Amino acid sequence: MTIQWFPGHMVKAKREMIEKIKLIDVIVEIVDARAPYSSRNPMVDEIIQNKPRLLILNKMDLADPNTTERWIHYFHTKKIQVIAIDATQRKLIDKVNAHIEQLFTFKKSANLKKGSIRKEIRVLVLGIPNVGKSTLINQLAGKKVASIGNRPGITKGQQWIKIKDNLLLLDSPGILWPKFEDPMVGKKLAIIGTIKDELLHHSEIVFYAIQIMMTHYPHILQSIYALDLTINKSFTQEEIIDLIMKIGMKKGILIQGGQVDVEKTSFLILRDFRSGKLGKISLETPQELME
Ligand code: G4P
Repeated sequence: MTIQWFPGHMVKAKREMIEKIKLIDVIVEIVDARAPYSSRNPMVDEIIQNKPRLLILNKMDLADPNTTERWIHYFHTKKIQVIAIDATQRKLIDKVNAHIEQLFTFKKSANLKKGSIRKEIRVLVLGIPNVGKSTLINQLAGKKVASIGNRPGITKGQQWIKIKDNLLLLDSPGILWPKFEDPMVGKKLAIIGTIKDELLHHSEIVFYAIQIMMTHYPHILQSIYALDLTINKSFTQEEIIDLIMKIGMKKGILIQGGQVDVEKTSFLILRDFRSGKLGKISLETPQELME
């Protein structure tokens, strides 16, 4: 079920989340490595306040490794502890545990000073939909535990899962809502699959994706779809439509009368992007934030 993120829902979700976070020692915030700025809810800092936080750039297997490095550097300059992972890979999970434990050591000495002897670390995974929260929870737990709907806040009736002797994980993630005033942020979220496809015109979204690819990865479409293209960094609208037509023609995605089905072809390009078939592509860089 897709829920609409009405302001009333957001206020309630935020309030509930702030309440739950009081129980938590370490927050694991997940974003999509292909769009680490756009896939962060900008209210997250206010919500988690001063809790120790590990920021995870997930789906690094789909992002441009050079750009991911630049994002890591960017977040370090903001004094945020950050790592990039592919949550589908079990072997990277120890790295996450090690960071959580390291973050907790500071908190533990503060707890001891306050007279608390609790040693276990309580962890919450949070982020906007589709960034990989349940995948990470399942990996950390070593079994399938997270079944979620896209409900804001935290699902009622949650339980703690013991990951290790000293690590307790909340079994359901904190689901933040995507928040954007900038339409470009919305388009990037649509490209990576955060905003449900039914709400979109694929051709409009793919248009923006092609603009980004032609600017930063000009040879990708040419080589993946075996196109004969003149590489040109500033593609016009007509040239992009022509490009979609060429891809549709190559793939035989036609409607009656032999015309290319632009919407279906656009969907194919988006699907290829999301699955990584087009290669490792990032949609934004830290430099763009500073421009
Ligand atoms: P969520 O709880 O934050 O909503 O995300 P979830 O774990 O359900 O992951 C969303 C999709 O992303 C899943 O694909 C999951 O397998 C995939 N995914 C998660 N982490 C990674 C990663 O590091 N790399 C890659 N390549 N994929 C990852 P799905 O089951 O196919 O769902 P859907 O995208 O078809 O809805």
